[in-house]
Amino acid sequence: MKILVLGSGAREHAIILSLRSEAADHEVFAAPGNAGIAQDATLVDLDPLDGAAVAAFANEHAVDLVVIGPEAPLVAGVADVLRGRGIPVFGPGRAAAQLEGSKAFAKRIMEAAGVPTGRAVRAASVAEVEAAFDQLGSPHVVKADGLAAGKGVIVTADRAEALAHAEQYLPSGPVLVEEFLSGPEVSLFFLSDGDTVRALSPAQDFKRALDGDGGPNTGGMGAYSPLPWLSEQFGSEQEFVDLVTEQIALPVVRELDAEGTPFIGLLYAGLILTPAGVRVIEFNARFGDPETQVVLPRLRTPLSELLLAAASGTLEAQPQPEFSDDVAITVVLASEGYPEAPQTGRLIEGLDEAAAVEGVRIVHAATGAPDAPGGSLVATGGRVLNVVATGTDFADARARAYEAIGRIRLDGAHYRHDIAARVAR
Ligand code: AMP
Ligand code: GLY
Repeated sequence: MKILVLGSGAREHAIILSLRSEAADHEVFAAPGNAGIAQDATLVDLDPLDGAAVAAFANEHAVDLVVIGPEAPLVAGVADVLRGRGIPVFGPGRAAAQLEGSKAFAKRIMEAAGVPTGRAVRAASVAEVEAAFDQLGSPHVVKADGLAAGKGVIVTADRAEALAHAEQYLPSGPVLVEEFLSGPEVSLFFLSDGDTVRALSPAQDFKRALDGDGGPNTGGMGAYSPLPWLSEQFGSEQEFVDLVTEQIALPVVRELDAEGTPFIGLLYAGLILTPAGVRVIEFNARFGDPETQVVLPRLRTPLSELLLAAASGTLEAQPQPEFSDDVAITVVLASEGYPEAPQTGRLIEGLDEAAAVEGVRIVHAATGAPDAPGGSLVATGGRVLNVVATGTDFADARARAYEAIGRIRLDGAHYRHDIAARVAR
């Protein structure tokens, strides 16, 4: 199959590695990709936000499937352009992508579909924000309404800090003040063809920058899958997945379909398991990063078949995706200063030594070729690399991941030391 993957991060590299590891002899293109992706796909110099250019490339090269990785091309309507020209594409159109692009839209859909979520108030002024704080209580949760790469959200018991955060975003429109939800977080991915959904295996993301869930929110500093503690709470992982499918994924997909904006792509349910039940904190319209890096290595069903079936409306004919009993963890190596002010351009060394650890793969998030030929790679962004390790249990996978990340040298880099620690005992 000829597949074009749009995007340039670790999620896209993980998708490409999974496509590569299938038996099939795929031809994989990536636009724009990164220095790590270049080792596993043909890089194409194409603006992923330019739907017409993407469609022209897909037609010219007889591409069978376009997979849209990040949210920006989705919200920009690239999937609509491709679908309009008859090109199979995995990723929702602009309207359905509002599920991620607008928190207010997501709340409205959840309300219409009867999906359990926290109470929320739209506030357009400081006075309205203050009133919402009074109504919903502390800790305060304030969200910017729009794409903010994980940085538009603040969760704090400090009212002045929460208000300052709201004031930063108010000039560009209303913010959302939410009820604080307490409990473990779960990321659950659903493939959707607009009508049928197929769940993948649950994962947990570590959103805060520092060990022990300290520091600011980030795009995600690590992840693991599966979540053994789900079985204690729900009987089995399958029972949990079935519950979320029935109560959350299917009602949302049906509501979007009924509104004439079918969701074709990856529905990412960000959940909190509160004492009162499962609640949605957010939807995303694409694979999660870094959760994808731990979910896909465990997937036994060929990914290309699932993505193509979703893109072409034939998911119902597909069996349920199957997962290995192995566990997977990923630890993100971030540049000095991430998330506030990442330092870029620094040399990365030790990648081969890290990749030599058994059960480890190095997934690239933001790497580039150096100016001088023959040199090591350089960091080009905040989250630079994902060290992914699989193993028979979490103690095993953790030992491998941390052994490997310790072999990578990048000045000033930092990572969390407690990824999957609580399940490794
Ligand atoms: P979001 O961008 O909506 O996923 O929010 C980023 C992170 O903030 C989430 O992963 C949670 O850790 C936290 N968060 C968001 N909304 C809430 C909420 N209502 N209650 C508690 N924590 C939240
Ligand atoms: N891991 C969080 C996200 O992909 O949004």
